[in-house]
Amino acid sequence: MPAEVRIVEVGPRDGLQNEKAIIPAADKIELIDRLSATGLRSIEATSFVSPKWVPQLADAAEVFAGIRKAPGVSYPVLVPNLQGYERARAVGASEVAVFTAASEAFNRRNINASIDESIERFLPVLERAREDGVKVRGYVSTVLGCPYQGGVPLADVVRVARRLHEMGCYEISLGDTIGIGTPGAARTMLRAVAAELPMTALAVHFHDTRGQALANILACLEEGVAVVDAAISGTGGCPYAPGASGNVATEDVVYMLHGLGIRTGVDLGRLIETGRWLAAKLGRSSGSKVAQAGV
Ligand code: HMG
Ligand code: MG
Repeated sequence: MPAEVRIVEVGPRDGLQNEKAIIPAADKIELIDRLSATGLRSIEATSFVSPKWVPQLADAAEVFAGIRKAPGVSYPVLVPNLQGYERARAVGASEVAVFTAASEAFNRRNINASIDESIERFLPVLERAREDGVKVRGYVSTVLGCPYQGGVPLADVVRVARRLHEMGCYEISLGDTIGIGTPGAARTMLRAVAAELPMTALAVHFHDTRGQALANILACLEEGVAVVDAAISGTGGCPYAPGASGNVATEDVVYMLHGLGIRTGVDLGRLIETGRWLAAKLGRSSGSKVAQAGV
């Protein structure tokens, strides 16, 4: 297992994108500023997608411009195409993430494109990013199952991950979008991708729909993955993946990692406080078991 794990906090983006009631930009900014003070080094701030598709994040520019950029912290943002990239750059984003899927059916519903079409759209983004010195992360969704097509062949996961890496994404986040996987499947999937790509270029992204996320993460840590996505207070879900509930809670991941003697650089107490603050804003109890227990 790795001695140290970098957590990519996706709460402000994946956590909030599916919230029905529009959250004021000022609250999103305060959330990110609070997260910046916990020791997290990567905080995905928002998405420059079509506001018609994700109305909750229509304020992406205002939010990104309003956050305090803490030294040593990166604030990646999602971009689906060149238009999103340009909007992100206009407010000074220096890291972006492109996203596609291993399943054609999901990709069509999520970004209205086939896998190949989405890759075509990313090419100019990667080219501009190279010129601008912008880092690009890549997501592969539905790596353990798809809400529309069911099973997803491992070969498709490997092919899409390899393509994103070849085109210049420094890190590929493997997403169990609908939280359907169990540890054996997660391990097999990660092994298959790691047979083609360096483990140091891989991250895992688990939704906790069926309560398997921590177990899946542990299985992947045992394979050597050292980057884990998580969302504060267990918020989250993709509007285009029916039944996709929250991401694994960052508080619970940090608790498990510290228990395993793995360093994260994150102050668990501050994280729990931030998660409670967010839960109160959202008017519900925290989705983190650790926060509920009060430890
Ligand atoms: P489309 O309708 O096919 O796009 O959507 P289009 O190019 O035909 O443009 C239609 C309209 O959108 C035009 O405006 C464009 O200007 C505008 P109109 O002329 O009608 O007024 N538009 C944009 N506006 C602002 N920013 C942009 C942008 N692009 C076009 N970047 C599109 C295609 C990709 C835009 C759309 O499908 C979309 O935005 N999808 C985003 C869906 C999304 O955000 N899903 C959640 C994130 S993925 C996820 O959660 C999974 C993940 O967490 C990992 C996991 O769990 O597996 C990452
Ligand atoms: Mg997700």
